[in-house]
Amino acid sequence: MQKLKISKILKKKNKIPITCLTAYTKTIAQIADKFCDIILVGDSLGMVLYGMKTTREVNIETMILHGRAVKNSTKKSIVVFDMPYKTYTNKFIAYKNARKIIKLTKCDAVKLEGGKKMVGTIKHLTKKGIPVMGHIGLLPQTSRNFKVKGKNFIQKRQILEDAIAVSNSGVFAIIIECVVENLAKKITKSISVPTIGIGASKHCDGQILVTEDMLGLSDLFPRFVKRYSNLKKIIERCIKNYVKDVKLRRFPSYKNVYK
Ligand code: KIV
Repeated sequence: MQKLKISKILKKKNKIPITCLTAYTKTIAQIADKFCDIILVGDSLGMVLYGMKTTREVNIETMILHGRAVKNSTKKSIVVFDMPYKTYTNKFIAYKNARKIIKLTKCDAVKLEGGKKMVGTIKHLTKKGIPVMGHIGLLPQTSRNFKVKGKNFIQKRQILEDAIAVSNSGVFAIIIECVVENLAKKITKSISVPTIGIGASKHCDGQILVTEDMLGLSDLFPRFVKRYSNLKKIIERCIKNYVKDVKLRRFPSYKNVYK
């Protein structure tokens, strides 16, 4: 399996849909690596794995452990590390943390949330050789409400301006989270870098979902998630059967015993 280059992602715009998923662990990373262009070590791991109320509680040390596990388990995909809340409050802090992240995890790029305000930071990181993925629309680290964005004219204009500013600052792709369909379409047509949608319609250049959501492992089920399985139910059934077997002394059987 040949390692995918970031330049290849740029070339896919308007041609081939870019496929992305999140991964926090070795097993999911190994499977996603077989099929996806990009794997995101998302700070959503705080809520999905650690039961935190928001992604703001995630710290850089925890993220680095997962980033390393994911990167070490992939051969082909581009691995993007989601910079946690307050780790990029200005361009110097952002660079110090991004350098540490890349050094310790060997991830291929970092992602940070924000529009026009992030331009200086993105330019600083990319100038220093750190590939950056942008993230606009709904911003889980700072949003006060988790409603779909771009429903009114002012918000639409603001998000479009964010997209243009971020795309001109050197990112190789931009995540667009939870915006109305016609805005996602307009952004995708207006900028030269690929857009990766999550709750942002088929008009984006690629799609991303939180893997646990699409597998039916999390409790979240927003409209934009398509569930490909209900693993929670499957695991529940397995654990129930295991406990039953133990109680009935059906496990371990002769097959599981060393003679
Ligand atoms: O943290 C995350 O998983 C993300 C995705 C929702 C894009 O940022």
